Amino acid sequence: IRIGLLFGGRSGEHEVSINSAQAIAQALQTGENDHKYDVIPVYIQKNGVWIAGETADEVLESKTPLSPEDTNPYQLWQFPPELQEVEVWFPVLHGPNGEDGTIQGLLTLMQVPFVGSGVLGSAVGMDKIAMKMAFAQAGLPQVKYKAVERSQIWSNPCIFPKLCDDIEAGLGYPCFVKPANLGSSVGIAKARSHSELEAALDSAASYDRRIVIEAGVTARELECAVLGNDNPKASVVGEITFDSDFYDYETKYTEGRSQIHIPASLPEKVIKQIQEMAIQAFKTVDASGLARVDFFYVEETQAIYLNEINTLPGFTKFSMYPQLWQATGISFEQLVDKLIQLALE
Ligand code: DAL
Ligand code: MG
Repeated sequence: IRIGLLFGGRSGEHEVSINSAQAIAQALQTGENDHKYDVIPVYIQKNGVWIAGETADEVLESKTPLSPEDTNPYQLWQFPPELQEVEVWFPVLHGPNGEDGTIQGLLTLMQVPFVGSGVLGSAVGMDKIAMKMAFAQAGLPQVKYKAVERSQIWSNPCIFPKLCDDIEAGLGYPCFVKPANLGSSVGIAKARSHSELEAALDSAASYDRRIVIEAGVTARELECAVLGNDNPKASVVGEITFDSDFYDYETKYTEGRSQIHIPASLPEKVIKQIQEMAIQAFKTVDASGLARVDFFYVEETQAIYLNEINTLPGFTKFSMYPQLWQATGISFEQLVDKLIQLALE
């Protein structure tokens, strides 16, 4: 089967995507998958230009992004003819322009099956406000939050102080200010005071039109992997610990700054609840194929809060998603094979 591996992408998670794609490409061509798949790497540069052939192979192998100056963004495609023969697309793109339904729409129009969620699941899973609204409607527990628009922050100086007062009164400190549509904690800030809240909102507004502010909780961070289409299954539960103030981009991707614990040490009842909630979250946004669902767990009260769903979770050899399945009994190679089967269902 000819697999079109889409990676790179026009998002702040470009480098993460190259790492994920390299691990997936390797798994598609080793062990039981050897000779089963023909991998065609298609690299999307930071400026949006799609590149296939030798240059894409080189980026994948060297894990070195191509400089956008090398190509003209108006000349969007550099496709060799064999791309017409791709039988299944595997988008390994994190964040905007990849995890958010845009690529999924294009692939749907091309009428070629692809791995992962479709337009709706991807779009709802990406936008933190739409996601939270869907989860709330489904009765899934979440921390308190408030959604605001950039225009409330920037265009009217009379509204802004009142907005900050409202957020402060409703959520207290610390709270987390997040652009609604970015991944890997890009653009997220923790606010501990009125002045920090003002600065964080102003900064988040430079990333996105839509911004969400969440109440901070002192909690353990747990993650659960989901795999399947109409009858999805949940993996064992993992935990993330880290030595910084919160789980930001640097902590996520600097070696030694965060640790993964699989399985997380938890009461059986909590594990069951998390697995059920993970599947419910998956169905609520209409995800398919794969997703990683992230939770907060407050030990004292045993309260579980759903944090978010990621429809194209980090997929490097060291990432939580494949490691959770490994611990559940599905190897990395079996996992990518299964994802392709699910795409063809
Ligand atoms: N957005 C990153 C890749 C993740 O959720 O793993
Ligand atoms: Mg995310």
